[in-house]
Amino acid sequence: MLDILIKNASELVTCKSAGPKTGRDLDALDVVKGGDLAIKDGRIVAIGHLNEDAKKIIDATEKAVLPGFVDCHTHLVFSGSREDEFALKTQGANYLEILKQGGGILSTVNRTREATPPQLLAAALARIRMASDYGTTTLEIKSGYGLDFQNELKMLAAVRCLHTNRRMESVPTFLGAHAVPQEFKDNREAYVREVLRMVEEFRRQSLAEYCDVFVEEGAFSAKEAETVLKGAKACGCRIKLHAGEFSDIGGVELGADLGATSIDHLDYISEEGMRLMAEKKIIGVLLPGVPFHLMTGHYAPARRIIDAGIPIALATDFNPGSCPTLSMQMIIALACRYMRLTAAEALNAATINAAYALDRGDRIGSLDVGKQADIIILNIPNHRQLPYWFGMNLVERVIKNGRIVK
Ligand code: NIG
Ligand code: FE
Repeated sequence: MLDILIKNASELVTCKSAGPKTGRDLDALDVVKGGDLAIKDGRIVAIGHLNEDAKKIIDATEKAVLPGFVDCHTHLVFSGSREDEFALKTQGANYLEILKQGGGILSTVNRTREATPPQLLAAALARIRMASDYGTTTLEIKSGYGLDFQNELKMLAAVRCLHTNRRMESVPTFLGAHAVPQEFKDNREAYVREVLRMVEEFRRQSLAEYCDVFVEEGAFSAKEAETVLKGAKACGCRIKLHAGEFSDIGGVELGADLGATSIDHLDYISEEGMRLMAEKKIIGVLLPGVPFHLMTGHYAPARRIIDAGIPIALATDFNPGSCPTLSMQMIIALACRYMRLTAAEALNAATINAAYALDRGDRIGSLDVGKQADIIILNIPNHRQLPYWFGMNLVERVIKNGRIVK
């Protein structure tokens, strides 16, 4: 007897792929029309036209069934909000200028340092619930609003508490190199050494899978990032970078050289950087919510990035400063409008390729027999309507690990 049988979906959008999708293949979805999907013991056990008994039957007539979204880049644990800064930005203020004056990331650092662990966790849990409601079944979470040992530990401990959440799998990333904290502003090298000490200890406690660095003017140079990321690799961490958000200062070349799992943002990227990423098969995580929210008008050159052969993923970058949304549906809508992705490209980027950006492509990210049953049912008859309607929640049901959570 099956646990759940989803019947008669107008489209089962499988996003099936043996590896990260690139080039033309990114535009192919593998859709089963009028299909059924069977779930048992948390896994997908059959796809096609099925007539088995199940404890629960879900009628999906006129609905599209998709793999749950994988949001492979978020800063979900933090305290406070920055609507005051947003108001300034609508009047023309600049993100990096605000950071230079001790605002931006550093203002969230102050709020987060003040928060108690239960306060931090309660806020994170409310956000997990919201992300799940919008169809995300796995998300990555970066630290980086503590910027000292005790507070980075507090953030990563909060992420660990989220591990048992039934709606969401959370993947922890250490981002001690997010900004130089005020107390180290005249001694950057000492802070880099402190980051190295933290990564070693957090890795020893298995509190982080990845180490990330914000490579940017006003944050960390490629040279500083190299020191941090080499140290991280030496203690068994996989690596990611924030590169090319506002300028291209060598982060892409460094990430390619060190074998990063993904390099994220890429709003500014050179031809040579693209060639290197394609050659090393590094996932380019594009975050269109950022230029949208910051109103820069400068989006990653997605078509050139795809044509170069780089596997792209999409993510929210959810954070209080540069992208306050948890809606992967909104990100897909933006990617199609501003980066001119097709619906199929955006969907693959938000599911299977995003799963590969978290080294989980063999387990999640597609509807495939044997894979974890992380599935969403949308109130639309075909996947092309997903980017078309925008700013509304089209997700009707969410199944996580074979359990109905919405
Ligand atoms: O990905 N770039 C650095 N970090 C975030 C922004 C964090 C913040 O503004 O609080 C980002 O855009
Ligand atoms: Fe980010």
